[in-house]
Amino acid sequence: MKRKTVRIAMNGVTGRMGHRQHLVRSILALREQGGLELGGGTVLWPEPVLVGRRASALAALAERHGLEHVSTDLDAVLADPTVEIYFDAQVTAAREDALRRAIVAGKHVYTEKPTATGLDGALALARLARDKGVRHGVVQDKIFLPGLLKLKRLVDGGFFGRILSVRGEFGYWVFEGDWQSAQRPSWNYRAEDGGGIVADMFPHWEYVLHELFGRVTSVQALATTHLPQRWDERGKPYDATADDAAYGVFELAGGAIAQINSSWAVRVHRDELVEFQVDGTEGSAVAGLRGCRVQHRSTTPKPVWDPDVPAGHAFREQWQEVPDNTVFDNGFKAQWELFLRHVYADAPYHWDLLAGARGVQLAELALRSSAEGRRIDVPEIAL
Ligand SMILES: NC(=O)c1ccc[n+]([C@@H]2O[C@H](COP(=O)([O-])OP(=O)(O)OC[C@H]3O[C@@H](n4cnc5c(N)ncnc54)[C@H](O)[C@@H]3O)[C@@H](O)[C@H]2O)c1
Repeated sequence: MKRKTVRIAMNGVTGRMGHRQHLVRSILALREQGGLELGGGTVLWPEPVLVGRRASALAALAERHGLEHVSTDLDAVLADPTVEIYFDAQVTAAREDALRRAIVAGKHVYTEKPTATGLDGALALARLARDKGVRHGVVQDKIFLPGLLKLKRLVDGGFFGRILSVRGEFGYWVFEGDWQSAQRPSWNYRAEDGGGIVADMFPHWEYVLHELFGRVTSVQALATTHLPQRWDERGKPYDATADDAAYGVFELAGGAIAQINSSWAVRVHRDELVEFQVDGTEGSAVAGLRGCRVQHRSTTPKPVWDPDVPAGHAFREQWQEVPDNTVFDNGFKAQWELFLRHVYADAPYHWDLLAGARGVQLAELALRSSAEGRRIDVPEIAL
């Protein structure tokens, strides 16, 4: 086997996503499995260069994982011709500028979502990448999760018949930070720092709906800030200026209607932190991150509305678990592998900066819908 080392600048790896999902569960996991086989007798060996603002944090991270290369100088890393890929998991507000610099420097880019804070910026990045001829990818991890892969399997197998509706429930209680520390970073709750649940989650809903059921053709959303005050990482109170809940209705190409509630101010009475119920003429399914249950029309019970008697059905027990039938890898790692094969083995890949821009567009139009109190068409974007 020939080993091809690929140096990847990884920016934002001291953060929650960058560290756990991208560095540890994806890149380091790839190294633990001996690299990525590209075919033709070549194994790709990813060599991360940890980039960030705090030298001490980077050095500690490198030592913890036995890595050699760290830098606080992004320009120097981008000027280094041995670095071929730039990866970004920084806070959202810092992303667009860093991606632009990386593309201008001729690097292939792989990035967390949202790719920019507005559609114009997101499209400009996609156009720049096209003009520069670099390869580009955007994290769309949810469709690589076992639960949603099973849902996709059901769609592809024609289980649902005509799909009528999709209802999604996402969220959990994010502590305010006073008497118990918050479990998410405080910038998420400040609009001026790129926060907000619409900017964060609607890009996910765009590709989930698009890939499984049809492109989103219109959006009506109500975004709100249920908790206007929170406490930051140092225990200091701050004004939560960003939306922490959004209630959205989406029309989909093909005729299905989706409704998704997203909230950081809801307590979980579900089996998973996100769940999607899909109802079709032939059957229904409820999928979470890992599990997926179905009810076929032939096994659908016939409840009768009667508030005078206790419920005669154990409704949850009337569903059947969809088996794994395969071994599911970590979704982030699976997508990294596809991206690396796209860059180094010319494999097709459509989760790119244009796909990322669609997510930014949906978030932008959802916020406009909320501000203006009306339903808004979502036009198709192109480069
Ligand atoms: N795909 C997903 O499921 C998913 C989930 C959560 C977050 N995200 C995205 O990942 C990105 C990072 O989110 P996170 O939750 O890991 O955030 P985080 O606050 O934990 O990490 C942010 C990283 O950016 C760095 N950074 C750079 N400039 C900064 C600045 N000016 N202020 C503060 N930190 C700065 C931090 O040092 C840190 O490494 C966001 O864009 C978010 O939208 C994606």
